[in-house]
Amino acid sequence: MEHILTLEQVKKYYGTGGNITKAVDGISMCVDEGEFTAIMGASGSGKTTLLNCISTIDTVTSGHIVIGGEDITAIKEKDFADFRRENLGFIFQDFNLLDTLTIEENISLSLIINRADSGTISRRVQDIAGKLGIGDILGKFPYEVSGGQKQRCACARALVNEPKLILADEPTGALDSRSSRLLLETMADMNRKMNATILMVTHDSFSASFCGRILFLKDGKIFNEIRRGNKTRREFFNEILDILTLLGGDLEDVK
Ligand SMILES: Nc1ncnc2c1ncn2[C@@H]1O[C@H](COP(=O)(O)OP(=O)(O)OP(=O)(O)O)[C@@H](O)[C@H]1O
Ligand SMILES: [Mg+2]
Repeated sequence: MEHILTLEQVKKYYGTGGNITKAVDGISMCVDEGEFTAIMGASGSGKTTLLNCISTIDTVTSGHIVIGGEDITAIKEKDFADFRRENLGFIFQDFNLLDTLTIEENISLSLIINRADSGTISRRVQDIAGKLGIGDILGKFPYEVSGGQKQRCACARALVNEPKLILADEPTGALDSRSSRLLLETMADMNRKMNATILMVTHDSFSASFCGRILFLKDGKIFNEIRRGNKTRREFFNEILDILTLLGGDLEDVK
C-alpha cells in the first residue's frame, strides 16, 4: 500500500551560528491510509514544528516530506495554499467557525473555494453531516448550536473535501473533559466509518488513547512508537502512561 505521508530525515533548525535550536532533528516515519496517529512528547519536543512542516505552514531545513506521492519540500511557496486546500484538512483548537455563515455554509466553504458544483456540495455536506449527527442543524448559525455540535461541524468541515490527511494540533487543548471525549469519539468515528487518515498532536494521554498508534518525540527525535492493536482503550492508556514515565519531563500533564 502506498503511504499517505512519508518523512525522510526531516530536520528543522531555528537560529544561526552558536544559537541553533534543533526543533526537529532527523525524523523519518510513514502514515498509511486510514491510520489515526498521535504525536506525543513534552513541551518543546518539536510536535508543533513537525506538524507545521507537514502542513506546509513551515519549511524544513533538510529532508523530504511526501504527501500523496507529492514531495512538498519541492513545492513553491506560492502553491502552498492550493496544495493545502486540495490535500489537507485541519481541526483547529478554537474550531474557527465563521459566525456569519450557517453550519451548512461553514462545512461547504472549502468545496465552494475549490469550485465544486452545487449538487456535489449539497450531497457531500448532507452525507457527512448525517454521519456525524448534525444533519438537522445545518440551517442554524454557530451561536445557535451547542459546543459539541460546533465541534462536529469543525470535523465535518475538515472532512468534506475528502483530504488525504487531516491534521490537528492539540484539538482538545481548550476543552473540558466531556467536550474532549466527544471530540475524540467523533474523530475516532471519522477514522472508522469514513477511513479518514488523521495525525493529531497532543500532550494528553487520554486523547492519545483514542488513536491506533502513537509516536513519542524527545528533543526533536522519535523516541518510541506504540500501537493499540487489540488492547482496550484503558490498557492502551496505561501503556502510554508507562512510556511517559520513561520519557520523564512534563509529567504534570499526565492526568
Ligand atoms: N519560530 C521559532 N523560532 C525559534 N525557535 C522555535 C520556534 N518555534 C519553535 N521553536 C523552538 O523549537 C522547539 C520545539 O518547539 P515546538 O513548538 O515544536 O514544541 P512542542 O512540542 O509543540 O511544545 P508544546 O507542547 O509546548 O506545544 C522549542 O525549543 C521551541 O522553543
Ligand atoms: Mg505545540
